[in-house]
Amino acid sequence: MSEDIYREMILDHYRNPRNKGKIETPDVRIHDSNPLCGDEISIDLKVEGDTIKDIKFDGRGCAISQASASMLTEMVSNKPLATIKDITKNEILENIGLTNLGPARIKCALLSLKVLKLGMIKYYIDKDPNSAEKLKEDSKVL
Ligand code: FES
Repeated sequence: MSEDIYREMILDHYRNPRNKGKIETPDVRIHDSNPLCGDEISIDLKVEGDTIKDIKFDGRGCAISQASASMLTEMVSNKPLATIKDITKNEILENIGLTNLGPARIKCALLSLKVLKLGMIKYYIDKDPNSAEKLKEDSKVL
């Protein structure tokens, strides 16, 4: 895809975010911010069996952080929760078409992935603290 198409896609997700809001009774709610700018993302998950049955994000921040969160919710919706640990930083950057960002903007793009991985770990810690420790190592939280 050309850069213009990616730019359009980011603006579209920023202006019309998918899965934005809150889940009334989430199984996990997790929140974090980008220390460089203070922008924030929170993610609510509803998990059934091991599948992400519902996901919503909320937050405020730049177009990249918010669009990236919107795209991420679409990427993992109805997927097994454990697959979150395998999502890489490059996958996110390729997904939003921004593979040549500087370090500060990379943090914008990856904020939601960080929150989602923390949310997955929190969910498993509540269920089984021992396996969660291993998961924490495997998921390489940013
Ligand atoms: Fe704050 Fe992008 S400038 S997350």
